[in-house]
Amino acid sequence: MSPDTLISQTTDSVSAQSNSAEPETATTPSSAMGIEQQPTSNTDPFDTDEFDQGVMQTYGRFPIALERGHGCRVWDTDGRAYLDFVAGIATCTLGHSHPSIVEAVTDQIQRLQHVSNLYYIPLQGELANWLTANSCADSAFFCNSGAEANESAIKLARKYGHTRLGIEEEPIIITAKSSFHGRTLATVTATGQPKYHKGFTPMVRGFHYVEYNNTASLEAAIAELNAHGPRVAAVMLEPLQGEGGVNPGNLEYFKAVREICDRENILLMLDEVQVGMGRTGKLWGYENLGIEPDVFMLAKGLGGGIPIGAMLCKASADVFDKGDHASTFGGNPFVCRVGMTIAKFIEQGDLLANVQARGEQLRAGLNAIAAKYPEHLVGARGWGLINGLVLRDDEAKAPIDVVKAALDEGLLLVPAGTRVVRYVPPLIVSEKEIDEALTVTEQVLAKIFGG
Ligand SMILES: Cc1ncc(COP(=O)(O)O)c(C=O)c1O
Repeated sequence: MSPDTLISQTTDSVSAQSNSAEPETATTPSSAMGIEQQPTSNTDPFDTDEFDQGVMQTYGRFPIALERGHGCRVWDTDGRAYLDFVAGIATCTLGHSHPSIVEAVTDQIQRLQHVSNLYYIPLQGELANWLTANSCADSAFFCNSGAEANESAIKLARKYGHTRLGIEEEPIIITAKSSFHGRTLATVTATGQPKYHKGFTPMVRGFHYVEYNNTASLEAAIAELNAHGPRVAAVMLEPLQGEGGVNPGNLEYFKAVREICDRENILLMLDEVQVGMGRTGKLWGYENLGIEPDVFMLAKGLGGGIPIGAMLCKASADVFDKGDHASTFGGNPFVCRVGMTIAKFIEQGDLLANVQARGEQLRAGLNAIAAKYPEHLVGARGWGLINGLVLRDDEAKAPIDVVKAALDEGLLLVPAGTRVVRYVPPLIVSEKEIDEALTVTEQVLAKIFGG
């Protein structure tokens, strides 16, 4: 299958109506799409002040209001188009209003959207079985977000520590500096970035931080923490640190971490919330590292924009009993139908091959651009379609300057860490759209750095 047909590939039996609504070739360059004529639903201009009165000010927002999308493109309330290389921050796996998803949610909402986990939910079982058949895990717990998936893993690790390792007091979970695991109290504590803790003390007990990609740091921490008997229950890491700056895990490091966890009989838990479900060009981030975790956590791409999270584990790590954990919405028929739609799309098509090819194209293009500005840029790094353009440490401009300038030119990007501009387009992105993003990036950098 050609990547250009990815937008129209369907897995469920898409109705004739959905298929006929497919002209939309999200792969066509914006100039050829007649995007200036895209209708908007608003007659009045969007009022940001009115929005800000009602919505808590927890986000720094860019001054555009998005109201519709198709493929890799979104439109604001003024009808202006943007090429979306943010994708809900690595979430919209199949882009926007993909016919497979439209068909699945339309059909499912007419059948059954939600029932309690007090009853069997066939679609939940189907998704769990697909995930376990296609990974190293044996079972899944479903929830609604990345933070909640990580919370589930944290609870699992604590119970594992108490019941399997005989830790009576406080089981400790080791996480990495510069990591990101979420914003609930436990997951923000797990996040090894003090700026996220500021104002929210006391943090949750039972976490300890080590340097990422540094075996000696982990060995030293375990030796110290376990000096008078077992206290460490788990090590929790991202296969590639996303928010921390698109920083890929090192193969040798992860091999060593696996060996250490086996030696100490502690859990290796991988936070795959940003990289799981195909974003790296492999189904799971851990496949890039040649190891298997005991536990891994998913969200973002699993639902392609419909909120779902999951914690998966091997049978040897599953210490949960009935009543230990729950989530009202977790794994309801609606979200699991979408999850299965994406799963089948990956299984039946060339999506992962597209992620690999487009990722290579993007990194090569970004490296070629970076080579023109060696005094400002280091180059590109990443896996598949999670990539970062890295600014030099001594560069006065920040990633946000590049992101703002790109937005002015109709390209959506997002910073990661303090030095990186992140590119995380939908996984269906086409060759032409990557070229288009590179062209805009080049224009923007020429404006910012001169040249
Ligand atoms: C690696 C990782 N873990 C956890 C989270 C938190 O996910 P959520 O915002 O769905 O709670 C994120 C969000 O960016 C993430 O990148």
